[in-house]
Amino acid sequence: MKVLAISGSLRQDSLNTRLLKAIADSVDENVSIELFDLADIPFYNGDLDGDTKPAPVQALLDAIADADGMLIATPEYNYSVPGVLKNAIDWASRPAFNSVMRGKPTGVISASMSHTGGVRAQVHLRDILLATLTPVYLAPDFALASAHTAFDEQGRLADKNTRDFIQQYLSGYTRWAASQ
Ligand SMILES: Cc1cc2nc3c(=O)[nH]c(=O)nc-3n(C[C@H](O)[C@H](O)[C@H](O)COP(=O)(O)O)c2cc1C
Repeated sequence: MKVLAISGSLRQDSLNTRLLKAIADSVDENVSIELFDLADIPFYNGDLDGDTKPAPVQALLDAIADADGMLIATPEYNYSVPGVLKNAIDWASRPAFNSVMRGKPTGVISASMSHTGGVRAQVHLRDILLATLTPVYLAPDFALASAHTAFDEQGRLADKNTRDFIQQYLSGYTRWAASQ
């Protein structure tokens, strides 16, 4: 199974990107998780959204089309998703209700330095994905709180309970995604 991982943060030391990398390093060999970098995606502009898309947008569309599912890790910015992530979804969501995202089984997780772990952004993200007919994995939320303290020096999740929780989330997600 090929899973496209998208971090909603462009930051070099992003905790969401770190979380996705830690997950990618720990999955079974029958699952591959590849990270897509949103840094080069321009602001959505309908004038650019013709048959020929900006190259980074086309790369995103191709990567989504080619994947069996998506795993999105979002920061929370002012109780919602960062504009960078919403912008990428806006590009990928066209044509409306019939885009590459339609029917693509997607997991939503978050990491934040706060105690709430980004859960409010997850709620918004699920709602945004509904608008694109993207099915979202239903499971107890995985939200990494105080994420700046959560990784060891090798970039692994330091706490065993947290590692077990994400493993459980992932095995549930991959089982569900394969059945879609
Ligand atoms: C503009 C802005 C708004 C933020 N608002 C929230 C917020 O509402 N809730 C929250 O938990 N964290 C908030 N944060 C903190 C981020 O979630 C935190 O810095 C997180 O580590 C960012 O993700 P990253 O490490 O992947 O870049 C905000 C950060 C920024 C820059």
